[in-house]
Amino acid sequence: MDMITGHDMVKAFGVGEERRRVLDGVSVEIGEGEFVAVMGPSGSGKSTLLFALSGMDHLDSGTVSFAGRDLSALDSEELASLRRTQMGFVFQQATLLKNLNLLDNIILPAVRENRKNAQGIIARAKMLMSKTGIAELEKRDITQVSGGQLQRAGICRALMGSPKVIFGDEPTGALNSRSAEEIMDIFTDIHTEGTTVMLVTYDAQVAARTQRILFMRDGSIVSEMRLSKYEGHSMDNRIGAVTAKMREIGI
Ligand SMILES: Nc1ncnc2c1ncn2[C@@H]1O[C@H](COP(=O)(O)OP(=O)(O)OP(=O)(O)O)[C@@H](O)[C@H]1O
Ligand SMILES: [Mg+2]
Repeated sequence: MDMITGHDMVKAFGVGEERRRVLDGVSVEIGEGEFVAVMGPSGSGKSTLLFALSGMDHLDSGTVSFAGRDLSALDSEELASLRRTQMGFVFQQATLLKNLNLLDNIILPAVRENRKNAQGIIARAKMLMSKTGIAELEKRDITQVSGGQLQRAGICRALMGSPKVIFGDEPTGALNSRSAEEIMDIFTDIHTEGTTVMLVTYDAQVAARTQRILFMRDGSIVSEMRLSKYEGHSMDNRIGAVTAKMREIGI
């Protein structure tokens, strides 16, 4: 079953002569439980695609259906609720608050949502922190942890509501390769547990760990790669295949 279906999505920015289609009639289907990467040059529309599929951005035309619901048929409250309950977002830098410790940062959105169940929320946050290897850092301020640890906290926060889909916009972009690998271990676990995962990345090593790569250029998906062919191959082989494909299509 499809988790997300985007059909003929068009999004333009700018006025007059300067107006440009950032999504130029993109159609894509993301299956339930899929692990997908989006690659492409800067400005090719990767973030815009993610925002469109998550209902964060309005389209000029085209449709998106998420878990069988047409996003354009929802009012802003319904859309916000769908996003809160079914989607999680992770960005390049976790946008956490400086005057709160890691645990409080992670629970804050959930507590705002449901003040009655603070104990349950804290228990879930601690479980996620332990799973992502930051259990012992709960009392630290966000200025007292590393970039990789901060990113783990961002992932915990995104997972608080048990989303069906996790979107990541260059979630490893600010990390060294070791931390990036550890973050990808976490995304792989999330995927293995059945969550749909969709990540924008420039990094062939990151993309090689997914199942399917969408390549964008000038507002279109110009190519796609299924990594199922490389099941059982070494990571070096997978990375080699991704790099070759990137070279072939010139990104
Ligand atoms: N709110 C906006 N107003 C005007 N132009 C925008 C807006 N958002 C994006 N754009 C333009 O749309 C194009 C695609 O942007 P997008 O952020 O989707 O690219 P991207 O592939 O994510 O790039 P990067 O890899 O640099 O993050 C860019 O040319 C960008 O300048
Ligand atoms: Mg972007």
